[in-house]
This record gives sequence, structure tokens and C-alpha cells, in this order.
Amino acid sequence: MSCSKPITDLKPYFQTLEDLEGPFNWTAFFGNDHPVVLDVGAGRGLFLFNASGDNPDKNFLGMELDYREGRRGATRLLKASRSNARVLGGDARIAFDKFIPDSSISEIHVYFPDPWWKKRHHKNRIFTDVFVRQITKALKNGGELHFWTDVEEYFERVKNLMDHASQFTRREAPKENNPEHDMDYQTSFERKKRNEGWIIHRGLWELQK
Ligand SMILES: C[S@@+](CC[C@H](N)C(=O)[O-])C[C@H]1O[C@@H](n2cnc3c(N)ncnc32)[C@H](O)[C@@H]1O
Repeated sequence: MSCSKPITDLKPYFQTLEDLEGPFNWTAFFGNDHPVVLDVGAGRGLFLFNASGDNPDKNFLGMELDYREGRRGATRLLKASRSNARVLGGDARIAFDKFIPDSSISEIHVYFPDPWWKKRHHKNRIFTDVFVRQITKALKNGGELHFWTDVEEYFERVKNLMDHASQFTRREAPKENNPEHDMDYQTSFERKKRNEGWIIHRGLWELQK
């Protein structure tokens, strides 16, 4: 007899790439035609939760490789009946290739992606030249890419990739806020890194097609 807890069905707040067929039809997926915002590597979903509450006229999809983290975020969305936010379990790189229709996304947010510190592991980083091609295809004209990290070397590398992507123009990134409470951060990692005293590097680029 198994003693493990049964896994709660969190559909439609948490679904995996295996549950779904691509390419997505966003109107069918969210039940409206509001702009779609992606959070790549959503972790525990603080950005999804806060941003979907602040922007009921936008739809939010978090992509998260780690199902446990993804389910945590989705549980929070379910409890708040947040119909404009969902979590997709799986590899964002596969989702971009097979599930995200071209020129269908208004904003892509990448917050504190895994740094893969060793140089020989840099190829595992989410943000590569292949990823730049994927986001260029996925974003609409006027679409935005937001990238934040505490790893200066990773930020410089992404800045270099983005500044060489001719369709993107760098815009002024948001300034650091003064958090009023423990949930008043862009993401859980922003809270952790700021509390540890790290400088946060913020980048924003806009796509012209
Ligand atoms: C350092 S955490 C940051 C989480 C969140 N963005 C934050 O700022 O709190 C990076 C997250 O990206 C996820 N991740 C890494 N590679 C991924 C991929 N290829 N597709 C989707 N998620 C990925 C990891 O599982 C992890 O939850």
C-alpha cells in the first residue's frame, strides 16, 4: 500500500505539455482574447500571482520545468480563482518550438534563470541565441522581453545577445521598488537575492517586426 498523498487535480491551473496539444489557440485556452504574457521558469509563481491580480485584462502563462514548484504556484492561483493565470509544466524550449503560435505573445518575462555557473555548463542556460530566435518568433510587433538576474556575467551575456538582435530595442527597465511587505517583490528569487544584499540587473527590450 502506498502512503504518498494523492496528487490533487489542479486542471486547468496546472497542466503539462503531455496533457495538451500544440499549437495553442489562446482564445480557447483562456476563454478570451486578452494579451498573453509568458513567465519562463516561473518557480513558485509569485510574479504570476501578483501580476495576474494587478492586470485582470491580461492572460498569464507560467512555464515551469519542475512540476512541484509549478503545482505550488498553480495551487495559489486556484485558491484565488485567478482565471487569467495558468502554469504549464514542462520545458519552455519545447513549448516555444511546438506550442506557442508565432507573433501571438505580448510580453515574455525571464526572472532569475538558473545560472549554470561552470563555463562548460553554460550551454544549459535557458537564454541562448536559440532562445532569442524563439522569443523573436513568439512575440508580436511591439512585444516586450523582461530579463532580471543577480548574476552580472549572465546579464552582460544576455545584453550582448539582445543588443545584437536587430529587431529588438533596449528600453528603460523598471527601477527597484521599496517593498511594503514580504510578497511585494517581482518574484521569490528577487526577494531572496535582495535580502542577501545582491545587486539586481534588470533589462527590458521591445521588438519591432
Ligand atoms: C532560479 S529559479 C527562478 C524562479 C522564479 N523565476 C523566481 O525568480 O523566483 C529558475 C526556475 O527556472 C526553471 N527552469 C529551468 N529551466 C527551465 C526550462 N527549460 N523550462 C521551464 N522552466 C525552467 C527551474 O525549474 C526553476 O524553477
